[in-house]
Amino acid sequence: MRVLLLGSGGREHALAWKMAKSSLLEELFIAPGNAGTKQHGTNVNISPSNFEEVKGFVLENNINMVVVGPEDPLVNGIVDFFEADADISEVPIIGPNKVAAQMEGSKDFAKEFMKRHNIPTAKYGTFTKDTLEKGYAFLETMKAPYVLKADGLAAGKGVLILDNLSEAKKELKSMLSDAKFGDASSRVVIEQFLDGIELSCFVITDGDAYKILPEAKDYKRIGEGDKGLNTGGMGAISPVPFANPTFLEKIKNQIIIPTIKGFKADEIVYKGFVFFGIINVKNEPYVIEYNCRMGDPETEVVIPRLKSDILDLFEGVATNTLSECDIQFDERSATTVMMVSGGYPESYEKGKQIFGLNAVTESIIFHAGTVSDGPAVLSNGGRVLAATSYGKDVATALKKSYESIAKIEFEKSNYRKDIGFDVL
Ligand code: AMP
Ligand code: GLY
Repeated sequence: MRVLLLGSGGREHALAWKMAKSSLLEELFIAPGNAGTKQHGTNVNISPSNFEEVKGFVLENNINMVVVGPEDPLVNGIVDFFEADADISEVPIIGPNKVAAQMEGSKDFAKEFMKRHNIPTAKYGTFTKDTLEKGYAFLETMKAPYVLKADGLAAGKGVLILDNLSEAKKELKSMLSDAKFGDASSRVVIEQFLDGIELSCFVITDGDAYKILPEAKDYKRIGEGDKGLNTGGMGAISPVPFANPTFLEKIKNQIIIPTIKGFKADEIVYKGFVFFGIINVKNEPYVIEYNCRMGDPETEVVIPRLKSDILDLFEGVATNTLSECDIQFDERSATTVMMVSGGYPESYEKGKQIFGLNAVTESIIFHAGTVSDGPAVLSNGGRVLAATSYGKDVATALKKSYESIAKIEFEKSNYRKDIGFDVL
């Protein structure tokens, strides 16, 4: 297969690393990729949101599979763009179409879906500028803390959790009337606060059959002890110790199966990865959110635990034969620790040379925000690289990730020293 992978983060490096191991791979291209993806294929300087350029590349290079990493092109309809164009409609593209991607692209769409299919989730109401007063009244019926969510994509920043009612009302107004998150907050979902511990679950589906991937837990806050600002994710572990077989069975029966059946019932053609953001409230799972792609940094621990050929699975998705694919997992645990630029998730500097990458022997270094400069590798984002390790358990794997990180240096680097603290 000649594969084009879209994206440039740690998730895409992990996917590229895995595809490079496939006997089905002939040639891999990554658009735009990073200094890490270059180890497994050819980076091409095309933005995943420029569909015309993606099309041109696919045609010129006889690409016969496109894999979409991030949510933006999916929510903006790259799959529909391919299907509607006779020149490329035969090229399989792995990811959900525009309607299906609304599971991530619109919180209200996802909540309506869950309500329709009896999937456990927080109680909610959806409001617009015209129903602001009703939104205030709804808030008055709720207890603190108050959860406000911009309906649309807001680069992970669209959720506010507020301790008092007057603040919640003020923020609701700012989201709806003053477009605090632009168009994304022209509708706002107000949700009951759920108190529990979160985990991420993943499924790959061809629309009929599905395969459950290993679960993971990511660490979103910048500071130790889960304090401080939200980030894209500072580390991840898999498996998740509290996700025992009974709890995973509940997730499957109460959430995963009703979701896949719900797609069919609603005639939503969903192909690709489904990411279930789940919260454990007194041993009962509830859906916090759906995403239409793999998680990052969860991919950096989930994909290393996949033993089967990922291109075989993608082919199963493309040809509606996923039910025939065999899927095997590594029994070992996997952990990843993110090294980030000092200052992230607020302002930070890029272009710092990274030293010590070749000294790492016991972990896989997945690049998240890097760029090559001749033989040098420079930082090129907030999240810079992820050190993934295997171990007989999470604690052993984490020890290796930290030993590897200690060998890597760049100016003003930062990382959390307590990944896994809450479950070990
Ligand atoms: P989301 O973008 O929907 O995943 O929300 C971002 C984060 O906000 C989640 O990962 C949770 O930590 C938190 N969150 C979202 N919804 C709720 C809720 N209903 N109750 C408690 N925490 C929530
Ligand atoms: N790690 C959470 C996400 O990818 O959205």
